[in-house]
Amino acid sequence: MAVSSAYGIADLAADLRRIADETQDDGEIVRRVGPLVERLARNSEDWISQEYYRCDRDQGFGVHLLHEEPNHDLAIFAVAWLPGRGTPPHDHGTWAVVAGVDGDETNINWKRLDDGTTPGYAELEEVNRVIARPGQVMAFLPRDIHAVWNDTDRITLSLHVYGRHLNHSDRSQFDPKTRREERFLVKVE
Ligand SMILES: [Fe+2]
Repeated sequence: MAVSSAYGIADLAADLRRIADETQDDGEIVRRVGPLVERLARNSEDWISQEYYRCDRDQGFGVHLLHEEPNHDLAIFAVAWLPGRGTPPHDHGTWAVVAGVDGDETNINWKRLDDGTTPGYAELEEVNRVIARPGQVMAFLPRDIHAVWNDTDRITLSLHVYGRHLNHSDRSQFDPKTRREERFLVKVE
């Protein structure tokens, strides 16, 4: 008898709960979560929906919540990106594991140069740019800073998993030119 090997969002959520119960070490969490997110990203036919491609024109991307715990921990999102749009540099205030699902996305990594003691002020320097392809996984610790950009000519989609829902974590967006740091909230569908 054939046994289904489909691994879906509910399976990932159950694995996230187990991992979060077993360790509070962010580095260990992202190492263990990475292969699970990659599995979902490479088998998107098991969970993807056309509505996840919907984007918010003002924001430049569409954030679709697929799972969170009742206290807003362990959040899973599908994020769709309009061509030529993206995010400002930002951190997450929690661990993050992101995998490409459909299309190539440009990931820009930034380094913070100041000591973070002046409220609302941050000096940033670009470190590198990486093209994140479908099935490729990237992991971020809570204060890592990156930006995402869709340099292609069609909507791209990626799968984002966080220790906490991003509008409930203490995190920032940055303007490298003006050196301003401010709260980063996103519109979630
Ligand atoms: Fe991010």
